[in-house]
Amino acid sequence: MPSSPASTDRSFLFVLGSSRPDGNTEILARAAAEQLPTDIPQRWLDLTALPLPDFQDGRHESGGWSGGEHEETLRQATLEATDIVIASPLYWYSLSAQTKRYLDYWSGWLTAPGSDFKERMAGRTLWGVTVMADPNPVVGEALVTTLNHSAAYLRMRFGGVLFGNGSRPGQVRDDERAALHAKTFFQRDTPLARFPHEQ
Ligand SMILES: Cc1cc2nc3c(=O)[nH]c(=O)nc-3n(C[C@H](O)[C@H](O)[C@H](O)COP(=O)(O)O)c2cc1C
Repeated sequence: MPSSPASTDRSFLFVLGSSRPDGNTEILARAAAEQLPTDIPQRWLDLTALPLPDFQDGRHESGGWSGGEHEETLRQATLEATDIVIASPLYWYSLSAQTKRYLDYWSGWLTAPGSDFKERMAGRTLWGVTVMADPNPVVGEALVTTLNHSAAYLRMRFGGVLFGNGSRPGQVRDDERAALHAKTFFQRDTPLARFPHEQ
C-alpha cells in the first residue's frame, strides 16, 4: 500500500503552463492535489499571470543578475517548495512554450553570481501533470524525458507524469483512468532521477 507524502516540511508548488484559463491540465492537477494531506502547503502559480520575457542567455557575461518581478516571484516560489509540479498541456508532443521558458530561467538561476540554486534543488522532487488530445500517453514521451532529465541534472527526485486525455476545456473529466491515477499520484515513490546512461 503506497503511503502519502510525509507532511513534515513538505510544500508543493504547482506551476500552471496552459495558454487558457481553467484548462484540462489544471483540472487534473487539482484532482491530484486534493488528495494531498491538508497540512502540506500548496502554492499555485499560473505562468500566464506571471509572463516571462524570452530567456536571454547571459550565463557567460559578467555583471550581476537582476530579475524582473515575475521572475523573482517564480524563483522564490521554486526555491521555497520541496515539490515542484509542472502542469503543462502537451503542445507539439512536449511542454508548452510558457513552461519551457520557465525551465529556461532555471539555467539563469543556476549560474547567477553567488547562486546556490543547484545545491538547494538537489534532493527535491519534480512531478509532471499533462493533458493531451491523443488518447495514447506514449506520444507524451518527450515531455517525460524532458522532466526526468532536468531532474537528473539537478540531482532531484522524479515522481513521474500524470497523464490525462482531453481536447476541449473540461473534457479531461471524462477520463476515468486519469481520475483514478490522480487519486494516488502523489503517493508514488520518488526515486532520485537518473539519466539513461546512469541506470
Ligand atoms: C499549441 C497546441 C499544441 C498541441 N499539441 C498537441 C500534441 O502534440 N499532442 C496532443 O495530443 N495534443 C495536442 N494539443 C491539444 C492539447 O494538448 C489539449 O487540448 C489539452 O487538453 C490542452 O490542455 P489545457 O486545457 O490544460 O490547455 C495541442 C494544443 C495546442 C493549443
